[in-house]
Amino acid sequence: MPHTFDIAVIEGDGIGPEVTREAIRSVEAAATLDDATFEWTSYPWGTDHFFENGQMAPDDFLDTLAKHDAILLGAVGGPKWDDPSAATRPEQGLLTLRKELGLFANLRPISAHPQLVDASPLKREIIEGVDILFVRELTGGIYFGESGRRESPGGEAAFSEMVYQQDEIERVVRLAAEAARGRSGKLTSVDKANVLEVSRLWRQVAERVVREEYADLEYDVVLVDAMAMHLISRPTDFDVVVTGNMFGDILTDEGSMLPGSLGLLPSASLGESGPGLYEPIHGSAPDIAGQGIANPLATVLAAAMLLRHSLGLEAEAVAVEAAVAGVLDAGHRTADIAAGGPAIGTAEMGQQVLDALAG
Ligand code: IPM
Ligand code: MG
Repeated sequence: MPHTFDIAVIEGDGIGPEVTREAIRSVEAAATLDDATFEWTSYPWGTDHFFENGQMAPDDFLDTLAKHDAILLGAVGGPKWDDPSAATRPEQGLLTLRKELGLFANLRPISAHPQLVDASPLKREIIEGVDILFVRELTGGIYFGESGRRESPGGEAAFSEMVYQQDEIERVVRLAAEAARGRSGKLTSVDKANVLEVSRLWRQVAERVVREEYADLEYDVVLVDAMAMHLISRPTDFDVVVTGNMFGDILTDEGSMLPGSLGLLPSASLGESGPGLYEPIHGSAPDIAGQGIANPLATVLAAAMLLRHSLGLEAEAVAVEAAVAGVLDAGHRTADIAAGGPAIGTAEMGQQVLDALAG
């Protein structure tokens, strides 16, 4: 039976509108495989909304978003936010969105496309074959613990508490373990259990969940400082990596250098229920906004994750991913991945994906 999916689109700032446009076109094209149809509702929330209305989005934005099947986000941020003393910042808006929508798991797949390995600052033999899925806990840990300032004998002091509850660890480890089952069956948990009590609980809970429920997986634990090394010395040894909020923030930025370009990396933020949030890892790139030269592929790949994780349209997701791989194999490049060679624009790259889907 034909089904209409209802997607919220927050194009946001900078290159956000240009890249989301191409992602929508690719989903529409992929959906012809099935009977699925889509309704796209665009919300003009972001920097301009903030500077016109004093807030990033209306007060009822969570209710509005919760009604949709999924959310596609371009990018939020830009030069208007350069003043670091600004009372409200887009980062805070994003954290509120994650927390209120219950998006506790952030999936960041990182793989090195064979045609682009030379775009990476790392050696070909290290990154060839890299295919890692980071699962970063997104609504707990030090990002959401108590914080504040206090007097101390040494002058003013500040603190940010890193706290995890058992159930927060269990649910994200389960989600990562399920993902590992669908891949090569290997799961790595990253912590700092040699020093931090919060990591000792993380390790204890993660090990129990895996032992009791996922004994079929190949499982290991790695300390976060060692992981920072392994990630660039032997990245092909890892498949699914699960870790807390701040460790995941840092390691995924490090990992994003493996494929060489931020322009290819998507991300998905998922909760227990309700809409997932899908976005490229890159920011709003105000320096190239409006020029039609941004690389839309990260957002196209984010849309593929949306098809897979929120809509259950696996065949369509695979088709979009294969189309992107095909376009890269055929040698099409936007400026960010062209290494100084000939480059095509945002819309042309989007069209190449559509042609590949049709072909
Ligand atoms: C990310 C970003 C955010 C984070 C910022 C913008 C709040 O770095 O999504 O990785 O720290 O989570
Ligand atoms: Mg980050």
